[in-house]
Amino acid sequence: EERAGQARFDEIIAKDSRIEPRDWMPEGYRKTLTRQISQHAHSEIIGMQPEANWITRAPSLKRKAILMAKVQDEAGHGLYLYSAAETLGTPRDELNDQLLSGRAKYSSIFNYPARTWADMGAIGWLVDGAAIANQVPLCRASYGPYGRAMVRVCKEESFHQRQGFEILLELANGTAEQKQMAQDAVNRFYEPSLMMFGPPDGDSPNSQQSMAWNIKRFTNDDLRQRFVGMIVEQVKVLGLTLPDPELRFDETAGQWIHKELNWDEFKAVISGHGPCNAQRLARRREAHENGAWVREAAAAYAARQTEKVA
Ligand code: ACO
Repeated sequence: EERAGQARFDEIIAKDSRIEPRDWMPEGYRKTLTRQISQHAHSEIIGMQPEANWITRAPSLKRKAILMAKVQDEAGHGLYLYSAAETLGTPRDELNDQLLSGRAKYSSIFNYPARTWADMGAIGWLVDGAAIANQVPLCRASYGPYGRAMVRVCKEESFHQRQGFEILLELANGTAEQKQMAQDAVNRFYEPSLMMFGPPDGDSPNSQQSMAWNIKRFTNDDLRQRFVGMIVEQVKVLGLTLPDPELRFDETAGQWIHKELNWDEFKAVISGHGPCNAQRLARRREAHENGAWVREAAAAYAARQTEKVA
C-alpha cells in the first residue's frame, strides 16, 4: 500500500498538482510542512507584538485604526496557518507548546525592537514587502491547505505593505527631523529584512528537498535577489537611501551584489539570542495565560452544544 501511495504521490508532484490532507504522503513531506507552516504561524502571532506596541502611540485616529486592522490581520493569518498545519496531524496545543517552550523557531525579524513611529513604516514596507516576495510563490505550494491559505494572506499583506510605504512617504516629505526618522528606520530594518529569506543557498539544508516537493519554488538567495531589485527602485520614490553603498547590479552575473549580511547575528537571533527574543516569548506566555478563561469558556460551550445534539 505504501508503494502505491508513494507512486501516486510522485505522480501528483510530477504533474505539479496538489496533495490534500487525506492523501498518502511521505513522512518527510509531512514533517517539513508541519515545520514550515507552524513556524510561519508562530511568526504571524509573535509578529503582532512590535506593531501592537505602537497602537496607543499612533499619531492620529486614522493611523490608529489602520494599524489595529493590520495587527488583527496578522492574528487571522496565524489562526489560518495553525489550521493548515493541523490538517497534517499535529494538534494545535502541541504546536503552541513548541512555541511557548522556546523549542520552535519563528521569523528572525520579529526579535528586533520597533523604536519609533517610522518603524511602523519600515516594517510595513520592508518586512511585509519581504513577506510578500517570499509568500507569493507559496500560493503554488503543492500542499493544498497551505497554498490556499497563502492566497488570502498575500492579498492582505499587499495592503500592509502599501500602508507602510505611505507612512514612510509622508515622513520623508515632512520636516527634516521626520525625514531623518524615516531614514533611520530604513537603516535599521534593511539588513534584518534581507535575512528573512533565510541563510544563503549553500547553508540552507531544507531548500533542495522542499523544491523537489514543490513546496518552495525559488531558493532563498533567488527571492532575496528579487526583493532587493524591487526596493532599490521603490526607495527612490521615497527620496531615501538604502544603507548599502556596495549595492549594484552586476550585468555579467545578472544579479544584485549587496553587502555581506551578518550571518553570525542571524544565527544568534534564530537560536533565541536576538535583542527581543526573551521579551517576545515572555509576552506571548503571558497572553496565553491571560486567555485561559476564553479557551475554557469556548470548550464548555462546545461541550454543551454537543450534549444538546445527542
Ligand atoms: N527566521 C527564523 N528561522 C529561519 C529563517 C528566518 N528568517 N530563515 C531560515 N530559518 C530556519 C529554517 O526554518 C530552518 O529551521 P529548522 O532548523 O527548523 O530546519 C533553518 O533556519 C534552515 O533554513 P532553510 O533550510 O533555508 O529553511 P527553509 O527551507 O524552511 O527556508 C524560509 C526558510 C524561507 C523562511 C521558509 O521556511 C519559508 O518560506 N517559510 C514561510 C514563510 C514564513 O515563515 N514567513 C514568516 C515571516 S513573514 C510574516 O510573518 C509577516
